[in-house]
Amino acid sequence: MAAGSELGGGVEQAPAEVVITGGAGQIGYQLAPLVASGQTFGEQSVNLRLLELPQAQQAAEGVAAELQDSAYPNLAGVDIYDDPTEAFDGATHVFMVGARPRGKGMERADLLAANGGIFKEQGAALEEASDDVRVLVVGNPANSNALVVAAQVPEIAENGQITAMSRLDHNRAVGMAAAKLGVSAELIDKITIWGNHSNSMVVDTSIAEVDGEPLEDALKAAGVDLKQYATEIKTRGGLIINLRGASSALSAARAASDHMRDWTSNTLSPHSWTSAAVLSQGEYEGLPEGVFASMPVRGGVGQFNVVNALSSVNRADIKAGILATGEELVAERTALQEARFLPK
Ligand code: NAD
Ligand code: LMR
Repeated sequence: MAAGSELGGGVEQAPAEVVITGGAGQIGYQLAPLVASGQTFGEQSVNLRLLELPQAQQAAEGVAAELQDSAYPNLAGVDIYDDPTEAFDGATHVFMVGARPRGKGMERADLLAANGGIFKEQGAALEEASDDVRVLVVGNPANSNALVVAAQVPEIAENGQITAMSRLDHNRAVGMAAAKLGVSAELIDKITIWGNHSNSMVVDTSIAEVDGEPLEDALKAAGVDLKQYATEIKTRGGLIINLRGASSALSAARAASDHMRDWTSNTLSPHSWTSAAVLSQGEYEGLPEGVFASMPVRGGVGQFNVVNALSSVNRADIKAGILATGEELVAERTALQEARFLPK
């Protein structure tokens, strides 16, 4: 992050240089106000950089005008770019959102070919970013796109500075459990999403809690079928597409903001965790080294720490699910290699 400058006797921190790719898209339009209003970076002032395709520059200007009209106290400025190299120059935080969304009847993996080129080009442009940059890949298929980005800047990836988003799945699991039990989402803890942001993800509630008590017992007592609950979360993205005629945006933006906040500040309780897709180092059997897999993580100031040795993975159905989602991540990696988005 850029050094602070002395002003009027105090130290004024330089603004965070935050890029949102696809800044005029559906998620971009919902995410920009979260970043500008302090939901993501608290009191830290931010310069927002909206990267968009040439044909969406005018729409991006509209977003920038609305941000200015919102008079956010900590928004230092908004700039618009159509060149990733310029947009990423000195960037401290990058939300990689801009990509094609799936439509009705598609799987996210169907987007591998359509979106791989975007992430290859933008991954290479990350060479221009701050050495300390944090990159969150949102555009689908997010785990595999993160791999394409990582291959362009391996040293940044190996340092844990690139992650992909499974926070939406995590938030869905929390929100749905809270709704079924009629309690505040704040009381739900220790859920884990494992693996890929796809239907193969594992929604692990086996050691989760509601207000300190076992969540699964509470859900069963409320008449909830646990398998059905997990299926609803895995297929929620498709349901939203069917209902809205467009993929999730409001909740996706909230999840992206939550992910970046918990990654860059120490806001999570030390006993709690969330889920994020990180570059696997083989911490958990079934999630091979070198793929971006969702795991339980604790926040930190710029560092996600994987929660190790969770006992839930010893349950046979969870173990089998993790193996299957890990295999899918490897198959996507192979497909990217064959399409030359990744080296063999
Ligand atoms: P959208 O079509 O509304 O917006 C995408 C924007 O990206 C458009 O404005 C487009 O002009 C821009 N864009 C496309 N290519 C670009 C490029 N090379 N550089 C810069 N900008 C570019 O789509 P959306 O609803 O905002 O979704 C964006 C992506 O996020 C999709 O791939 C979607 O599937 C994914 N998504 C992921 C999650 C998740 O949980 N990981 C959740 C929701 C959506
Ligand atoms: C979601 O989970 O809502 C997003 O990944 C969009 C999609 O394609 O489902």
